Amino acid sequence: MALLDQTLAFGTKGYAWLPDLRRRSHGRPVPMRFGGQPAVAISGPDAARFFYDRGHLERHTALPAPVVDTLFGRGVHTLDGEAHRTRKALFVELLMHEDGVDTLASLAGKIFDEAADGWRGGGPVSLFDETTRVLADAAARWTGVPDDDGLAGDLVAMVDGFATLGPRHLRARIARLRRERQLAKLIDTARRQEPTDNPVSRIAHHLENGYLLDSRSAAVELINIIRPTTAVAWLVAFAGHALDRWPGTRARLRAGDEDYTLAFVQEVRRFYPFAPFLGGRARRDLHFQRTEIPKGTLVLLDVYGQHHDPRVWPEPYEFRPERFLDRPVGEFELIPQGGGDPRAGHRCPGEKITVAVLGTLAQRLAKLDYYMPPQNTGIDLSRVPARPRSGIEIVVPQ
Ligand code: HEM
Repeated sequence: MALLDQTLAFGTKGYAWLPDLRRRSHGRPVPMRFGGQPAVAISGPDAARFFYDRGHLERHTALPAPVVDTLFGRGVHTLDGEAHRTRKALFVELLMHEDGVDTLASLAGKIFDEAADGWRGGGPVSLFDETTRVLADAAARWTGVPDDDGLAGDLVAMVDGFATLGPRHLRARIARLRRERQLAKLIDTARRQEPTDNPVSRIAHHLENGYLLDSRSAAVELINIIRPTTAVAWLVAFAGHALDRWPGTRARLRAGDEDYTLAFVQEVRRFYPFAPFLGGRARRDLHFQRTEIPKGTLVLLDVYGQHHDPRVWPEPYEFRPERFLDRPVGEFELIPQGGGDPRAGHRCPGEKITVAVLGTLAQRLAKLDYYMPPQNTGIDLSRVPARPRSGIEIVVPQ
């Protein structure tokens, strides 16, 4: 039987698309067509393990050009095999050491405090917009990229426009082009100087098989640090949403309870929508849960669906940080930034940074005395990436 192409359904249903399809197939893998190609959707910790098994999927032929040309760029996300392992080592070295994580998180905290001082006694500010500027500034200072008025806007545009073909997409393409060109020049300048310890210099002088990266590719990898750091603002806006909807979560954050803060951060990353699904292409004929997956099939891992599956997370639509207090988290269960070992596969190398930055800003937000004027905090699940409509407007009295 010919299968209906599902691309339009994703465009209209967003995050609900795959969970709906999978519910109709009673949780089994769902064969379909997507983007004019044969595809299959899978979900759950076993599916994530299958997805991240090294021999199973490749990325370079799986990522659609509109996503590469806006969100990712032609860098580490699009590599496979040895080329990926070599490039990934650069990110592991730059992003996964405690001292780097702590430095960036405390820089973000300090800049957030300074910004919050400026909100006192003024009118409403958008927590989302303000946090994008705080984080772009922190990322720029930490990496050695010069900050300018348009940096946060460009980095946000790259994330905001990847899953649509309208004006948001055009803005994303323009932002990427502009920043890749600008940062390629910065890489060239760094190469004429003595190497230092900052990420710009380390990427500029990084060798692969004895060669420097071409400056455009080096710029792409630099953007692969500053763009997603700025994207943590989506999660901070969600944290603001959670504090408003579930005010009982505030006290322990305010008290600086570190175990609870980590649990709150994990629950924000589980509960709220960000990456809807991940995609790879079958390298050979595969088999999963009694479903044939012929070589060349697109395999879609339903991230949002997995985070709201009652078999994995009882009462998944309850926002309950406590669920993380007494529960170890398996490496394929909570997958907002991918699953498995980040050193070996494509899992996000910025997860520690995300958790640290979100934790420190969530505590600060909980400690800040503010109120929220009437506004629409609704989250439209058909818009990818989603965020509270109002951006979480807050007023900080004198
Ligand atoms: C990869 C999500 C923050 C750097 C990824 C992937 C996801 C993701 C879903 C792809 C996993 C895969 O393809 O299997 C997020 C989210 C973040 C975040 C939701 C927070 C809002 C960060 C930060 C950094 C970062 C803070 C760097 C400072 C990267 C890089 C990759 C990646 C370089 C490519 C890894 C590879 O292909 O091997 N991220 N990320 N991310 N992320 Fe993040």
